[in-house]
Amino acid sequence: EPDNELIVVSNRVPSPKSSGGSQGGLAVGVMNALQKNEGLWVGWSGDIDENRDAQLNHYEFDSVRFATFPLTENDHQTFYVGFSNEVLWPLFHYRTDKVEYTRENLEGYLRVSQRYARHVSTLVEPHSRIWVHDYQLIPLGHYLRQAGIDVPIGHFLHTPFPPWDVLRILPDYEDLLRYFSAYDVIGFQTKCDQRNFEECMRHGLEATFYDDGTIEAEGRRFRAEAYPISIDVESAQEMARQGVDSNVGKRMAQSLADRTLVMGVDRLDYSKGIFKRFQAFERLLEKAEHQHGHVVFVQISPPSRTDVPEYVELRTELERVAGHVNGRFADYDWTPLRYLNRGYSRESILGFLRLSRVGFLTPLRDGMNLVAKEFVAAQDPEDPGVLVLSHLAGASWELQEGALVCNPYDSEGVADMLDQALTMPLEERKARWQRMMDVMRENDIHHWCRQFLGALGAVKH
Ligand code: G6P
Repeated sequence: EPDNELIVVSNRVPSPKSSGGSQGGLAVGVMNALQKNEGLWVGWSGDIDENRDAQLNHYEFDSVRFATFPLTENDHQTFYVGFSNEVLWPLFHYRTDKVEYTRENLEGYLRVSQRYARHVSTLVEPHSRIWVHDYQLIPLGHYLRQAGIDVPIGHFLHTPFPPWDVLRILPDYEDLLRYFSAYDVIGFQTKCDQRNFEECMRHGLEATFYDDGTIEAEGRRFRAEAYPISIDVESAQEMARQGVDSNVGKRMAQSLADRTLVMGVDRLDYSKGIFKRFQAFERLLEKAEHQHGHVVFVQISPPSRTDVPEYVELRTELERVAGHVNGRFADYDWTPLRYLNRGYSRESILGFLRLSRVGFLTPLRDGMNLVAKEFVAAQDPEDPGVLVLSHLAGASWELQEGALVCNPYDSEGVADMLDQALTMPLEERKARWQRMMDVMRENDIHHWCRQFLGALGAVKH
């Protein structure tokens, strides 16, 4: 008889229906984590249904138990599109220019959190622990406390957390900080996010900081710590080998002939820096004529959040610049840039990453970037590729010893680094790859899970 010892809550849950690649790091990381920890995962079914009283739909998929429910059109529009993705997402990625705030959307955001709280309350048992994920559900802990739930509740933020002066753009920033104080453990991707959060707590709520690492605000004591998320390294390696041997992998290899593959994989999101990445690649082709005919850059970007206007505009811009680069440099037997606007299975993606000489990941700001870690895990140890990684991705904290770390705003510099990656000798590639693997083996997804749940388990109520 399964019990609800661990209840995981997030807005997005991995779905057997949706194609790989468009779900983002949360679904990949948490899924990897839960496959080895019995747990129940509560979230949005991905459907729209006007019935606000719809019950939870329980099912099992890939040996994880799920309980999902639909959102109404209005909830989806206000909570998901309007507040989560037109206010919090840009704000947390330091893109204050893109913040579109309305009170109506804020109300929807809070209303849906309350709905989540009602559903989760029905599942809680005396020995349960609740683990809430990401910016869509920050107020959930607060509403669970209001409903009288006093079991340990943790929150992990998958995105960056902005500095005080950026957070203050939000009209309700103090409330947002209060919602955080309802949790027992708050997890961030990097030390930098953790420090930003502490600074906001200090200025915004006049929090007290204790020597044992706890923080006190709003009459509650809690912990805030960095727990960088990761992947299941062994299973990614295995899947990458299978991906290369699959039909898709073989056809990809055939289509490349002897050319060198540079690969980018990101949801179609402005935070990923894909536009500037295309420009940097164009700069490489301008400067490095020896690469003409020899390098192929494949960018895979499944559409994401297509209800948000910014994302629709980005898609048009990327189509234009991709067409421009090919129009300028392509030859009768060579297309330098293949821009693929669709998702592939995780196995195919990992196979492609294994076939790549360069992993080209240049977000303008990213909580972690698990594709960077997947690229490293996917490599052939005898002939590993080179990771070109933005220093503004959370992953660069752990991978900087082995990656070529670039500033994505400097297309000239990125182009030079790409050239360096394409011409790097085997010995150096091996040494750099080994350093990254050592770090990743130490901190894999199971370590992440143990660390966070260990902290949550140590909470006394
Ligand atoms: C990022 C976010 C996740 C989100 C994912 C996909 O990884 O941190 O919370 O689920 O993107 O975005 P979507 O809006 O489709 O859930």
